[in-house]
Amino acid sequence: EDTITLGIFGGGTVGGGIVEILSNKADYFKQLTGKSIEVKKVCVRDASKPRDFTLPEGCSIVTSYDDILNDDSIDVAVEVMGGTTDAKDVVVGALTNGKSVVTANKALIAKDLPEIETLLSTLESGTQFRYEAAVCGGIPIIRSMQSDFVGDNIQLMCGIINGCTNFMLTAMDRDKKSYDEALSEASALGYAEADPTLDVGGFDARSKLKILMRLAYGMNVEEDEISCRGITELTKMDFEYAKMLGGTIKLLGVAEKNDAGDVSAYVAPCYVTNEDALSSVNGATNAIEVLSDNLVSSIYIGQGAGRYPTANSCINDIVALAKGDQNLLPFNPTSETKFVNNYESVFY
Ligand code: NAP
Ligand code: HSE
Repeated sequence: EDTITLGIFGGGTVGGGIVEILSNKADYFKQLTGKSIEVKKVCVRDASKPRDFTLPEGCSIVTSYDDILNDDSIDVAVEVMGGTTDAKDVVVGALTNGKSVVTANKALIAKDLPEIETLLSTLESGTQFRYEAAVCGGIPIIRSMQSDFVGDNIQLMCGIINGCTNFMLTAMDRDKKSYDEALSEASALGYAEADPTLDVGGFDARSKLKILMRLAYGMNVEEDEISCRGITELTKMDFEYAKMLGGTIKLLGVAEKNDAGDVSAYVAPCYVTNEDALSSVNGATNAIEVLSDNLVSSIYIGQGAGRYPTANSCINDIVALAKGDQNLLPFNPTSETKFVNNYESVFY
């Protein structure tokens, strides 16, 4: 067959970006993959809402999940509507109906990846589940974790893994914006989750950290075992003190191995000195430093949120499916690494 057909759940920030990039690069993708990549349906909540992207010819807006799930002519379901309840039904329904899935939904993956992996193991090998956009938007960190570190041993992952809060901290520190101003700007730019509590409470970063820990250490720690503080209690005074000490404050996600090989992790606003590379990572940019036995120190940096960076990662997954690439595995899926919460007493 020379066509691969998509049904997209979600026509918002990310969904709109996916449709746009697919339309703009249709000829190139056909040349690259040998297939036309066609969006047949976009499922949204409110069909009457104006959209900020142009629907391709032959594509319709629908509001019922079944319009995509039960359409046998659709090969791939792209889930970019968010949430963990309906999104799970959609993902599981699509996989069960033989459709590969591409998603940007870190909350769902952090919660249900083991269950999804179990389901995948019962399906035909061609049915794939891809989620490059779920961690750090445009940074290809999932692929890197699944390939570059296959012969390595990760000691530490430390980074800025939420774009919305990094944008807010930059706006509060550098541009002297208030917390509320910074949050509304981040929302207007499409960085915030539908429920921004997930961003400012540190929970989105914690979901991403959990996914990275799964990939790096093969562990399935419960999210609420990872100590988590967000940025809601930060005041101007904190930035002043940080400046006096020669640094700034960043919301970091950290997972590290101790000498016994156990892993501990936390998400928290941290003082970062001006000499640290992370101190100059501003706006919606994300950065993850990985310390490992073979590669020693690697830093991944790029746009962590927003329409095009995130859609770009979904496009990479879609093009990989069109090309017939194999799905990659977590590099250490059977690890017995133990989780220890060293930070419980520090977080109250
Ligand atoms: P968004 O702008 O709020 O768009 C969500 C879309 O999904 C909307 O079109 C909405 O329909 C539709 N939708 C939501 N609930 C639905 C339901 N129950 N039934 C049918 N359609 C429904 O969200 P987004 O920013 O694109 O984010 C989508 C996903 O990508 C989330 O999982 C998010 O965590 C993830 N993500 C986002 C970013 C980012 O920078 N924005 C980055 C990485 C990952 P209506 O338009 O009709 O309301
Ligand atoms: N709200 C998320 C963030 C979107 O700001 O990082 C990208 O995952």
